[in-house]
Formats: sequence, structure tokens, C-alpha cells
Amino acid sequence: MLEITDRQSAALADRVAENRLRRLRSIKPLTGLLVESAGRTLINFSSNDYLGLSQHPLLKERAAAFLSRYGTGCGASRLVSGNLDCYDALEEKLAALKGTETALVMNGGFQTNLTVLAALADDKCFIALDRLSHNSLLQGTVLSGAKWNRFQHNDLNDLERRLEAPRARIADERWIVTESVFSMDGDRCDINGLVASARNSQAKLFIDEAHSTGLFGEAGMGLAAGKPIDLIMGTFGKACGSFGSYVACSKTTREFLINCCSGFVYSTGLPPPVLGAIDAALELIPTMSAQRLRLSQMADHVRKNLKEMGYSTGESSTQIIPIFIGDDSDALSFSTHLENCGILATAIRPPTVPVRTARIRLSLSAAHTDEQMETLLQAVRSWMGPKK
Ligand SMILES: Cc1ncc(COP(=O)(O)O)c(C=O)c1O
Repeated sequence: MLEITDRQSAALADRVAENRLRRLRSIKPLTGLLVESAGRTLINFSSNDYLGLSQHPLLKERAAAFLSRYGTGCGASRLVSGNLDCYDALEEKLAALKGTETALVMNGGFQTNLTVLAALADDKCFIALDRLSHNSLLQGTVLSGAKWNRFQHNDLNDLERRLEAPRARIADERWIVTESVFSMDGDRCDINGLVASARNSQAKLFIDEAHSTGLFGEAGMGLAAGKPIDLIMGTFGKACGSFGSYVACSKTTREFLINCCSGFVYSTGLPPPVLGAIDAALELIPTMSAQRLRLSQMADHVRKNLKEMGYSTGESSTQIIPIFIGDDSDALSFSTHLENCGILATAIRPPTVPVRTARIRLSLSAAHTDEQMETLLQAVRSWMGPKK
């Protein structure tokens, strides 16, 4: 068995010294958003199951129906063992909902960002990436071999300046890559402004809708749905309640990805029960405006209370609410305090977020009860530690 090298163990020792060592926590799901961890019952405020769909009877029923119809696995890549007939209907449904020519179901958001960007861009391209973009977008950018630069978060002037820089101007193609709802800050990008910047600079626009699919826009199909955007990706593992991802795009882009995107070509298709759950989620989501409204009102209430307590929640305007603390060990102590009060709310530290911006990241779900929300606020109120 491989043992780690001195260099790797030094990297782990650094993490310990910096209070940044990550550990897996064992949990047992109970009902709804309750989990049991180390013998304690906790309300989960760290799950991205924003609509509670992972426990929805229709998703479970459809997953079971697909399991019994198709079995537990796809057997190989969709190109190799044959494309299960359920994919066509699923992708048509998705494209109709997103308002795009076509859609392609893929195997997880990380893999999609990594391999779609690597397929679409090459060393003759330039990618401008929002500074707070998800790691998968950064990795995909690097893997593509394109020249790249990160613009200041949500700053369209800085974006346009970078797109006009000489090394961007000489590129064959320029791409803008960003998220519609930012995963760690819960703020939104300015989609219309980005569309205008892309037009001004003759750049292409790639939007990651991981945290917006299911929650915003027409029929809950995301902030970018219906807008003139070159390529949209999103995931099914968050508000959609299961796993997997999609690309919503033109027919020609779909054909290109089926042929040239390594994450599609060389990876086994999603397990059929997951496809069943996605199918049911796409049926339910357009009907869930009441849940979306409740979630947004809950988020406003939580933000208002946190601000009254003197906390900064940054620019959050969605179901993701950071409570900024700054120092890594303070954020960890805060998280432990919340746990002692029955709340699971993980501290997010660098390198996931910039240095000195450690935070508690709250993920609200329409499935949280009012009582659970008040328990959270009470737990936060009783913390005597420092605020940012
Ligand atoms: C913005 C963003 N994009 C992509 C991903 C990766 O998606 P997945 O979890 O489906 O791999 C995440 C995951 O957290 C994310 O936050």
C-alpha cells in the first residue's frame, strides 16, 4: 500500500498548523433535515438539498421504477453500451425547460466543468474567470491550456479591461466563465451585464447554474434560462435532489461534446435510479413556486436577524448565507458551538475561500421548518465569539 511522501505529510502538517485540516464526519440521516452525528441529533444547515427533493416520494418512486426497469448500472459509456432510451426524453424535457436547442446529461458538475472547458478551449483561447468561481471551473480552465486571468468578483469593468488586454485580444476566442449564484457567498452575477460584456468584447459566455437550477428564473430553471448565453451547465445534486449534471447548449455544441469531451466519452453513464430521480425532479420543479417563495422569505428573515446581531452576510441574496468570521480557528469554534446547540453548519476555510474570510456557510432549504430556523438563530445569538 502506498504511504505518503515527506512532501505530502508536510502538506498535511501545514493544514493542521493552520487549522485547516479537513475530516470526514459520519452522519446518519433521520427524518427531513435531521441527522445523527456522534450520538447527537442535528438540524442540517449544510446540505444543498434546497427544495428537500432528495426525500421526496416521487423521486424515490421514480428512482425505484427506473431501477426495476433498467437495473443498477449503465454498463459503460453511453457511446459504448448504447444510450438508454430514457435519456432522449430526459434531455428533451430539460432543453424545453431551459429554452435551449438541446441538452446533454453528464456525470456530475465537477467532471462537467473540468472536461467541457478543456474540450471547448485550447491554447489559442483566452478565458476570463470570476475570481470566486468554483474550483472545477478553475481546473477546467487550466486543463484547457488556454491563457487565463481572473477578474474581480462580479466586476464587469474589470472583466472588460481584461478581455481588452493584448494577450486576450490576440486570442482566437475569448470566453467569460462564471456562476449565476456563487456557491460560498450566495450572491448572484449580473447576467444581463455579462451578456452585454460578452457582446462588447465578442466573447463567449459560460454560466454555471449549480446553485440556481431549481430555484430561480422561469419555472425554476435558473437565472440564465432564456438568456442569450453560449453554454449553461448545472447540476442535479443540489436543488434537484440526486446527482449528475447537464449542459444546455446548441445542437452543434452537443454533437461536439459527445465526440470530444473526455468526461462524456470515457465515463460510464449515470446509474438508472439517478436518471429516474432527475426525471421526477424536472417534473416537480416547475410546480414548486410556493417552496421557492418560502425559501426566499426564510433567507430574508435569517439575513435580517444575522445583521441585527452584528454579523456580515456579505452580498448574499439567496438561500446560501455566509456568516463571515475571518479567522479560521474562530470559524471552527463557532461551528462547534452551533453543533453543541444542535445545528450542523460547517465552517468553510481557505483554500475553499480566500484567506481571512473563513465563514459559516448556511444552506437553507424549503424543507426547514420555522421552528428549525428559529433554533438556528437562537444558537447563533448565544455565540459569544468574535464577529468579522
Ligand atoms: C458552482 C459549482 N459548480 C460545480 C460543482 C460541482 O458539482 P457536483 O457536485 O455535481 O460535482 C459545485 C459543487 O459544489 C459547485 O458549487
